[in-house]
Amino acid sequence: MKLSPKERAARIARTDLLIVFAIKGKKLDLPEGVELAAAAKKDFGGSFRSTRLCDPTGGTAKRVLLVGLGDNKSVDAEALRRGAAIAVKQAEKLGIATPHAHVSEAVEKAVGGAFAVGCALGEGLVMGAYKFTELKSTKYTPKVKGVNCAGEGAKFKKGLREGKALADANCFARDLQNRPGNFMKPTDFTKHARAIAKKGKQLSMTVLNEKKMADLGMGSLLSVSEGSSEEAQLVHMVYKPKKKATGRVCILGKGLTFDSGGISLKPGARMDEMKFDMSGGAAVMGVFHALANLDVNVEVHCVVVASENMPAHNATKPGDIVTAMNGKTIEVINTDAEGRLILCDGLCYATKKIKPDTIIDLATLTGAVVVALGHEISAMFPNSKKLGKDLAKAGENTGERLWELPLLDEHKKQLKGVYGDLRNINSGQGNGSSAGAAFLSHFVGEGIDWCHLDIAGTAWGSLNRDYRGGKTGTGVGVRLLINYLQNL
Ligand code: BES
Ligand code: ZN
Ligand code: ZN
Repeated sequence: MKLSPKERAARIARTDLLIVFAIKGKKLDLPEGVELAAAAKKDFGGSFRSTRLCDPTGGTAKRVLLVGLGDNKSVDAEALRRGAAIAVKQAEKLGIATPHAHVSEAVEKAVGGAFAVGCALGEGLVMGAYKFTELKSTKYTPKVKGVNCAGEGAKFKKGLREGKALADANCFARDLQNRPGNFMKPTDFTKHARAIAKKGKQLSMTVLNEKKMADLGMGSLLSVSEGSSEEAQLVHMVYKPKKKATGRVCILGKGLTFDSGGISLKPGARMDEMKFDMSGGAAVMGVFHALANLDVNVEVHCVVVASENMPAHNATKPGDIVTAMNGKTIEVINTDAEGRLILCDGLCYATKKIKPDTIIDLATLTGAVVVALGHEISAMFPNSKKLGKDLAKAGENTGERLWELPLLDEHKKQLKGVYGDLRNINSGQGNGSSAGAAFLSHFVGEGIDWCHLDIAGTAWGSLNRDYRGGKTGTGVGVRLLINYLQNL
């Protein structure tokens, strides 16, 4: 979808649909020359998410869609994202090729300035129009081809461009998530990374196949892919800023393209949802999709550890002992706790080969986090106060919120092994999500700021938020991480 910035002051060109965002209790601010009947203006209160489609009494717009953003004090970027998503969905239903969206000065002020309003509008329009239809037998062609977006000045234009880049990256991640296991395999991560790396001069990539992983001693990651006919992949991408980098951050994603549980087989009900177990990998790839179009001042590395987890005669068995890249031995008590087994070698790789200041990993790691926090907020386990604060702020900015759960020394001790150094679960103790984080902590290098994000509840199946939600993938993490990186 093409977003074309227009100046707000100008009289609008002829359009089939004019979208106007309204604040509750404030006078409707229509562009020059557009007239609505007094009753239409009076009846529309501007409550959050309310809409009214009007036939203007004069002017250049054939129809006008009023979209309410709610009370002035509660209007923010999230309200506009949702309003824009509602509007674009209506435009699609009406079959309008190029609607015109009008952002008044009052809305700009309430959302936080010209850049913020442009960004939220771009995000809401593009994410709101997202549909996953590529596996339907009849081809779907969206009716809305583009939106003319009227705001003010260079900052609005820049915000709009950035909002679109972020939303496109989010939709890219959602496409990866929504593809089922037979269309999204570990090697597909490699293919997509290659395509992204070609898009920007500041981007590059390398990939490890199973032979290279074995040479590096990644016995834990390899134990997960053992029972699968698909080869595991470790995809490593690098973004270098134009100016001297102010730091080095590694984002690491769980790219488990299908989690059957392995020999510790999962129950059949809802097992299909385990195609989403690659959502952490999709999110970090989405960040690199955005970095092909946006600048940040830090050097960014992403690592996707990608594998299937399948039962087979040669699959890893409960009780098997495997050795990770840092030499630690692990008893695989439950083969369904496989995310931590692939991530731990990813953490060792990042620590030893990338040597970052900060590592942030994203993983659909535990069902327990859904019990603790549900589908609207992700869990974070930061080992540094500053990192936790910065990420929480990014969560508020983007509507991808985070809540800190504890990672205690006692949790780390629960994972001591009987026959090996560690065991991959803490049977019978509860605190399942903290146990997952605690396991990972044993593989993070000294002095590195690290935060584990458990996105098992938020990666799919969240409540409807107009621009995302429902059963399908949410692309959670993409906008969150970019916002974090931009504010460093
Ligand atoms: N991919 C799952 C976690 C998951 C479960 C995400 C349900 C979303 C919904 C992970 O690999 C897993 O199976 N974890 C186990 C850990 C347990 C064996 C300690 C779980 O949560 O049951
Ligand atoms: Zn599992
Ligand atoms: Zn899993």
